[in-house]
Amino acid sequence: MPDQKKLTEAQHNLIHHNVLIMWKPEYNLGIPIVDEQHRGVVATINSLYYGMQNKHADTMLRPVIEMINNYTTIHFETEEDFLKKCGYPDLEQHLELHNELKKKLSSVGKKSIWEQDPSQFMEFLKTWWIDHICKKDWLFRDYLLK
Ligand SMILES: [Fe+2]
Ligand SMILES: [Fe+2]
Repeated sequence: MPDQKKLTEAQHNLIHHNVLIMWKPEYNLGIPIVDEQHRGVVATINSLYYGMQNKHADTMLRPVIEMINNYTTIHFETEEDFLKKCGYPDLEQHLELHNELKKKLSSVGKKSIWEQDPSQFMEFLKTWWIDHICKKDWLFRDYLLK
């Protein structure tokens, strides 16, 4: 950490810039590869948030969308493979949720780029985090701990 006394106010604000979602240990499901990938999703949300706060969103939006598109393919593949291997009883429902998310990701991503509006993409990412990762993916943990 640099010497705090030598920092300008702008530098100080940058270093102490708040992230939107601060990762906490309780977010871990206990499946290391899935947890790491969820952290990757959170890192992407935080990067877009940073861009929006610092007026870099225009240049960051397209790479963020491309990144999350690719990352989603990798993540869903990993999660689905894991669920199949451990005989998860609600596999079909979870696959359906992933398919819906992929479709939504594609349509919201295109619309956000077309309208140059990062906020609607951010809303989609936040909903994904809150409604899917923190709720639906969380059910794996309950199943595995039974
Ligand atoms: Fe997930
Ligand atoms: Fe999932």
